[in-house]
Amino acid sequence: MTSAKLSIGIILGSTRQGRVSPQVGEWVEGIAKQRGDANYEIVDIADFKLPFLGTTDGTEPGIKAWSEKLSSLDGFVFVVQEYNHSISGALKNAVDFARDEWANKAAGIVSYGSTGGARAAEHLRGILGELQVADVRVHPTLSLFTDFENFSTFKPAELHNNNVNDMLDQVVAWSGALKTLR
Ligand SMILES: Cc1cc2nc3c(=O)[nH]c(=O)nc-3n(C[C@H](O)[C@H](O)[C@H](O)COP(=O)(O)O)c2cc1C
Repeated sequence: MTSAKLSIGIILGSTRQGRVSPQVGEWVEGIAKQRGDANYEIVDIADFKLPFLGTTDGTEPGIKAWSEKLSSLDGFVFVVQEYNHSISGALKNAVDFARDEWANKAAGIVSYGSTGGARAAEHLRGILGELQVADVRVHPTLSLFTDFENFSTFKPAELHNNNVNDMLDQVVAWSGALKTLR
């Protein structure tokens, strides 16, 4: 049994110019890093410059880097934004680029949208089931109307801090348990 800390990636699900996901991801990371129970890092899918799946010969360096990054992680927190009642195309494409790299790991979801991004989060749960990612119950939902100013400057209500910590409690516990299966 190793005592090495688990590695948890906080995955930013949007790539568009003007996106708010970095603000949300940095807020999650700030709460997470105060805990000291795992190594947390932001994983920005935009950094990998992934092509649209299947449209190239697959030799872009970002594809390998994305696979290696996911392989290095024990668990995930998805920062999910609602696009037409689902997840963004960019996140779906990035998720589809890997398979074994996801399996037998745990994930939490922090979502935002007009209804807290709930519809997108529920779609993601279905996708994660196919990939053998165990998604935890606690799910912080952020409102574009009350947790953002002008839908662009993130000002989260205090109550969300407890939800993020409760979600991370579950992600860390399940990530540790599932590591024994890999
Ligand atoms: C193409 C598109 C579709 C959207 N559809 C929805 C939607 O169905 N429900 C919702 O609550 N918000 C919707 N929104 C608003 C986004 O949730 C909001 O713009 C959010 O900031 C997007 O995340 P991002 O800034 O990280 O890209 C949509 C935004 C875009 C760009």
